[in-house]
Amino acid sequence: MCGIVGYVGPQSALDVVLEGLRRLEYRGYDSAGVAVLADGGTATAKKAGKLANLEKVLADSPLPESTTGIGHTRWATHGGPTDRNAHPHLSVDGKVAVIHNGIIENFAALRAECEATGVEFASETDTEVAAHLLAKQYAETPQGPGRLAEAMRAVSRRLEGAFTLVASHADEPDTLVASRRNSPLVVGVGDGEYFLGSDVAAFIAHTREARELGQDQVVEIDRRRGLTVTDFGGTVVEPTAYTVDWDAEAAEKGGHDWFMLKEIAEQPQAVADTLLGRLGDDGQLVLDEVRLSDQELRDIDKVFVVSCGTSYHAGLIAKYAIEHWTRIPVEVEVASEFRYRDPVLDRSTLVVVISQSGETMDTLMALRHAKDQKARVLAICNVNGSTIPRESDAVLYTHAGPEVAVASTKSFLAQIVACYLVGLVLAQVRGMKYADEVAAIVEDLRRLPDAVSQVLTRMEPVRELGRSLADADTILFLGRHVGFPVALEGALKLKELAYIHAEGFAAGELKHGPIALIDRGTPVVVIVPSPRSRGSVHGKVVSNIQEVRARGARTIVIAEEGDDDVLPYADHVIRVPRTPTLLAPIVTTVPLQVLACEIADTRGYDVDQPRNLAKSVTVE
Ligand code: F6R
Repeated sequence: MCGIVGYVGPQSALDVVLEGLRRLEYRGYDSAGVAVLADGGTATAKKAGKLANLEKVLADSPLPESTTGIGHTRWATHGGPTDRNAHPHLSVDGKVAVIHNGIIENFAALRAECEATGVEFASETDTEVAAHLLAKQYAETPQGPGRLAEAMRAVSRRLEGAFTLVASHADEPDTLVASRRNSPLVVGVGDGEYFLGSDVAAFIAHTREARELGQDQVVEIDRRRGLTVTDFGGTVVEPTAYTVDWDAEAAEKGGHDWFMLKEIAEQPQAVADTLLGRLGDDGQLVLDEVRLSDQELRDIDKVFVVSCGTSYHAGLIAKYAIEHWTRIPVEVEVASEFRYRDPVLDRSTLVVVISQSGETMDTLMALRHAKDQKARVLAICNVNGSTIPRESDAVLYTHAGPEVAVASTKSFLAQIVACYLVGLVLAQVRGMKYADEVAAIVEDLRRLPDAVSQVLTRMEPVRELGRSLADADTILFLGRHVGFPVALEGALKLKELAYIHAEGFAAGELKHGPIALIDRGTPVVVIVPSPRSRGSVHGKVVSNIQEVRARGARTIVIAEEGDDDVLPYADHVIRVPRTPTLLAPIVTTVPLQVLACEIADTRGYDVDQPRNLAKSVTVE
């Protein structure tokens, strides 16, 4: 949510900032703006709409050369997506420029306070109060090195809510300061240059050396004095240094029309990398950071999986595997509901939080609630060093690499794999599965990258089908067992990318109401379980296909190779390789991603940046 870039160093700040914004645009894209410090003043440009609109403005009216600058892409919260509300926001004298990610919850009171002193606001944003407060505080702070940082600390102490703020002052042309609470901020350290970013994509083209900023900290980057981090009280703290293991190329489109297509194509690698190194020589599974003893894991008698959106769907799949392998009851819940209903949690509860970004506010708040109730928290996360894994008791990273398209694809598959690993670790520690049994399942997992590659080679008919569905008003998705969350994910992908009404149902629920939606020609996508599935679930789904077809549906069936039972009732069949039932979502999800992408593209929409969405949702 909102992309933030800051630069201090020898290069053209505007070039660095714009390049960073291009890489961060997926975080928010309803307006963009920049500010540079030059000639004793602050020069800004901002424009509603995508970054390209701002670039046009800059081409017509270039900003002066500068080596210190900030930039922002916005995902609107307070105030609509207009030029006026675009960041940066300036103080009345134009000296302070501020960009912000998050929500300042007490902004109304602070705005009233500023207005009482005669300040006229130029925007409807919550951010603008920070610019005015900072200007006032700066004026009241004694001159000397670190003055802007000192003012920032004082202002930050007064703010409530979640924020990353980056600010400059025209009187300090070689300095930027930034403050963070509940909202992401990383610092990049180059050779005589410093970067600020809401994530490492902001500066990955320049340096892979990063510093992680903790909660309630302020950082100053200054060309002469370097990097200083303090807490809000002014005590100096040593930030954690790390080297980013993504390279700039990983964040480029690599010849694909859309990042999403590239990320879909990267899924075999994402699955393989998430498994890599997880099985030790002794057959024991290895997690990344486990601050929990085996005994604590053995004591767990209940698991919650808590996450949002696509990550929630990964959690739903996790339930089937974890319960089956461990016999521990698993509840899955969307993070935004979890803490508000007072869930029953204690020391023997394991809360697995799943988040691609590691910054989703709903999930972070659920995590904190779980920890307050003494539950153990294990994070499954794609972004190293982000807040959610930092605050968890144990971490398993999904090694999917940077995911730029707003719609999750490769991180979803990697999350499912990570959930399987968590299930297997629990089963192993609790003695439910012997190392050799675990190794056998891991062998099945190891075959998945090839299976996904096979699916990807057969996507042309799916694309063609997608083009033929581009005018549909409604598309329904049906599945049973692990196919049900896959149906939900297929529907979510279609809604978010193609803006078509789509719903996923448990196939058995259809007859209890939703079947009334079926009209002549309504496309219905059915995820058919393997004929080898437990019980008669395969036969039941085949019956469900017949039911919808009898009512006029156009049936699109995703079925395993060799499953000919579906043929009489399928208008279209999409084949996936034979895969053990619990692992099948890894292959059945892929055609649904491609379908949604193709439909959106045919309808002329921006696949990577769907309307109203942002990649990382750092507000509740
Ligand atoms: C959908 C999508 C979102 C995210 C959700 C959680 O394609 O990407 O539904 O899955 O916002 O985000 P993370 O996983 O970063 O917590």
